[in-house]
Amino acid sequence: MVDLPPFALDHWLSAHDFATPPIAYNLASSTGPRWSVADLCALGDAPLAIDDTILSYAPPEGGAPLRAAIAAFHDTDPDTVIATTGASEALSILFCLGARPGANIILPDPGYPAYAAVAQAWGLSTRAYRLGREAGFAQRADAILAQVDADTSLVILNTPHNPTGAVMPRTQIEALAAALAERGVPLLVDEVYHPLYLAASQRSAAGISNVIVTSDLSKALSLPGLRTGWLIDADADRRARIIDARSYFTISSSPLLERLATHALRHSDAILSRLRSVAQSNIVQLDALVAGSRGRLAWARPDGGTTAFPWLADGRDSRPLCETLAAQGVLLAPGDCFGHPMHMRLGFAQQAEGFDTAINRIADALAAL
Ligand SMILES: Cc1ncc(COP(=O)(O)O)c(C=O)c1O
Repeated sequence: MVDLPPFALDHWLSAHDFATPPIAYNLASSTGPRWSVADLCALGDAPLAIDDTILSYAPPEGGAPLRAAIAAFHDTDPDTVIATTGASEALSILFCLGARPGANIILPDPGYPAYAAVAQAWGLSTRAYRLGREAGFAQRADAILAQVDADTSLVILNTPHNPTGAVMPRTQIEALAAALAERGVPLLVDEVYHPLYLAASQRSAAGISNVIVTSDLSKALSLPGLRTGWLIDADADRRARIIDARSYFTISSSPLLERLATHALRHSDAILSRLRSVAQSNIVQLDALVAGSRGRLAWARPDGGTTAFPWLADGRDSRPLCETLAAQGVLLAPGDCFGHPMHMRLGFAQQAEGFDTAINRIADALAAL
């Protein structure tokens, strides 16, 4: 049997967010503001009607309208796009295809916990490159290349990064992709938080030679319930293998969700504008929280994405603080869910209403430490 570790982060989120009633202030999750089907369908001049959708399978690579909308979002060629069930399925397919005896993949630490767990479940060994808090959690090409060897089948970069919000500039991505091309290793750029940038904005990594992009509607586009992700890959042979893998794993997306997803992408400006307004007003409150914490809370301010990864400056484990706050209706994610107990993940893009109340409760709990 495969030794799949418990997904500590999702256990914590589920226990509080799927409770009855759900937690009042969810600052643990990494998604944007919530949308109902009605609000999504109403976007644009011609509201979307979905009643006539035929509930058959969709093509395994995704229907043409969805792939065209994804390509437009990334300013790339629709032929290079494959739809998946969330970015999760895209990652799982890439790990499955990259697995061979002795192979390894290189991934960020801290990082999205599923990278290591799922890659290991497919039989890959994992090597982490560290994102130092002293360097603003930068993902550095030299640290990555130092881990690569003849058995490396894939390198993962996640920018904007979960949980730290660090961003790797596009010029550095290009240089890393070129250096990896010389070693015969593809670079996977997981862009699920693109294009939420809080400092300089930048273009998608789609189109950079030797880069495979994964992304989704769940994070910056705030619609995790559509379970729609994708993969962009210029390598036609690999794409054919990926589409076969998808046919085996989940066959296709739901045509109903594909229509909603296509509509969402065609109106991504409206969705992103709502996200940015929540994120920008909330991050200012985080600035004040850190500044007013009398040195108890430290952070590297995120340059993008929906989460920050602050830490308790005295080095203590954040879980007791997270438990105290959860009992008061404020949910943060304990850093041990990412293997870094003194940190906590703090999401700032989901909810504007009540964010000030949540921040006040965090400030009080920090003062009482
Ligand atoms: C960095 C990153 N990649 C991929 C995913 C997978 O998300 P989904 O399957 O909803 O697209 C997540 C979810 O948290 C994530 O944080």
